[in-house]
Amino acid sequence: MQGYYQRHLFFCLNQREGNARPCCAVAGSASVRDYAKQRIKSLGLAGAGGVRVNTAGCLGRCDEGPVLVIYPEAVWYTYHTTDDVDEILDRHVLRGEIVERLRLPEPTVVRDGLISISPADVDKNTAG
Ligand code: FES
Repeated sequence: MQGYYQRHLFFCLNQREGNARPCCAVAGSASVRDYAKQRIKSLGLAGAGGVRVNTAGCLGRCDEGPVLVIYPEAVWYTYHTTDDVDEILDRHVLRGEIVERLRLPEPTVVRDGLISISPADVDKNTAG
């Protein structure tokens, strides 16, 4: 099974008033998202069957931000510079390698009650 996009990147651009909690916008996430979008476009990878860069609201990991998440692998990253984003694009998006130095940790708790669906199950259920 192949998704509509091979890779889908979501950059949190949430802006929060006051300093009670951190937010990704303060770290310049909008300009970094723009940079990533332009770079994907210049590589000729934007669009269906390729890569999509999207804006997200708060993704719930504000203390670890700025954050982006890449699907279908569901790998979460933080970044500090456009060099970091270049490394994520060059290694993860183009070559399918995880950039461990920028990766955010997996959850320590897995909630019960959710049934996971493998790509093979989806193919089986949609065939025919
Ligand atoms: S403000 Fe970006 S994850 Fe919450």
